[in-house]
Amino acid sequence: VFSNLTPQRAHLIIEDCLQGFRSHRPTVGKIGETYSSALTYASHEAEAGLRNALAMSPPEVVSEVAASGIRGRGGAGFPTGTKWRLAAAAKGDLKYIVCNADEGEPGTFKDRILLSRFADVVFEGMTIAAYAVGAREGVIYLRAEYTFLKPQLEAALAARRQTGLLGKSILGHDGFDFDIRIHMGAGAYVCGEETALIESLEGRRGHPRNRPPYPIDVGLNGKPTVVNNVETLSSISCILARGAAWFSSIGTERSKGFKLFSVSGDCTRPGVYELPWGITVEGLLETVGGGNAKAVQVGGYSGMLIPASQFDRRLAYEDLGIGGSVIVYGQDRDMLDVAENYFEFFVDESCGQCTPCRDGNVKLLEGIRALRQGKCSSRYLNELISLCETIQVASKCGLGQLSPNILIAINKHFRDEILARPMVGQH
Ligand code: NAI
Ligand code: SF4
Repeated sequence: VFSNLTPQRAHLIIEDCLQGFRSHRPTVGKIGETYSSALTYASHEAEAGLRNALAMSPPEVVSEVAASGIRGRGGAGFPTGTKWRLAAAAKGDLKYIVCNADEGEPGTFKDRILLSRFADVVFEGMTIAAYAVGAREGVIYLRAEYTFLKPQLEAALAARRQTGLLGKSILGHDGFDFDIRIHMGAGAYVCGEETALIESLEGRRGHPRNRPPYPIDVGLNGKPTVVNNVETLSSISCILARGAAWFSSIGTERSKGFKLFSVSGDCTRPGVYELPWGITVEGLLETVGGGNAKAVQVGGYSGMLIPASQFDRRLAYEDLGIGGSVIVYGQDRDMLDVAENYFEFFVDESCGQCTPCRDGNVKLLEGIRALRQGKCSSRYLNELISLCETIQVASKCGLGQLSPNILIAINKHFRDEILARPMVGQH
């Protein structure tokens, strides 16, 4: 969507989102009994996290991150402390910190807010990560659609170099040298997948690699590399500033801390919300004015469709721990229309390496269009679901493994709606 906008219009939308973010502060801050510090990034004391980190040894910083319980905010939820511990132990003089700012999941725009308003908090987190694992170079992989942010990010990096926050002996800490550069993506969704991102950084097409080895062992230029999401790194700055105990006191037993949720679709107050883990879908809908929803997609297009009968489910790793994007579908939405939109996207974005994903998603799109035109029977729908299952198990990366989710969910929860269409003959 944003690639079609002028920079001015894109900025305006960001401001709109931010207004939503700000105007909900009082309400948001009251959700969850233990949570009372909404807008954590805005109130973050500049470089407090980095200063505290530099007063500790690198292993102590890793332990603090592990103790906070934070899990990766890109969607997969891998424990950040574990990732850093493995990276710190990896052999090699040269290590990299890569900030994954290829925020391409439809319906997800939280990282854009962080990068546009709180870039220093992101860079601070990258610097803490470098200190903790022993890296000297950092790269921020910025999605092509965020090119308009590049000048201000470059300016922020230049200011950090001037004030000793990047470069040699950071903040006077002898032997701690680290710098960050920006690498622009070229507009491919699959480059948000970490190994495709690394291929792209190395100058090749963004084709996902087989894992293992994971990037913490063999990453950029074959060296140990920590790939963390923008939000994860931003949260790290706050964790080091306020302490692991503060962070882990927010949220639920297995889902520590707060989280940014990008909310869009059929609701009256879309925007980015900072919330503690553990709120129910219902609670979130109340906050965003989505009271008349028939379903909600959690975790972007590769996430899960939750029907109204399950709105009591919780946004937490114990239940729905699948990312920070929420798309609200109102009563009038045609769910096959929704599915067609998803598969148009996946067909466009498949990198084409594996047949099930490259051809299977095309077949699913054709099938959905045939269903929409009333040209298919329930048997044909069953065959499409069987194809979905094949694509899930036979695809190499998350794109193919997760793309069928939406059709499987619509078939499960809205099959009657699909089959209620007039059928043109039975096949
Ligand atoms: P994953 O679970 O395979 O890996 C997550 C992270 O943990 C990676 O950094 C990986 O290197 C690390 N990891 C996992 N196992 C490891 C091990 N044994 N040793 C060392 N490191 C290990 O998930 P993946 O495929 O990286 O990401 C899929 C997720 O991405 C999905 O949940 C989806 O929601 C999300 N996603 C987010 C998008 C966005 O725009 N934010 C776009 C598309 C997908
Ligand atoms: Fe490429 Fe799709 Fe295979 Fe992923 S699953 S490697 S996007 S063809």
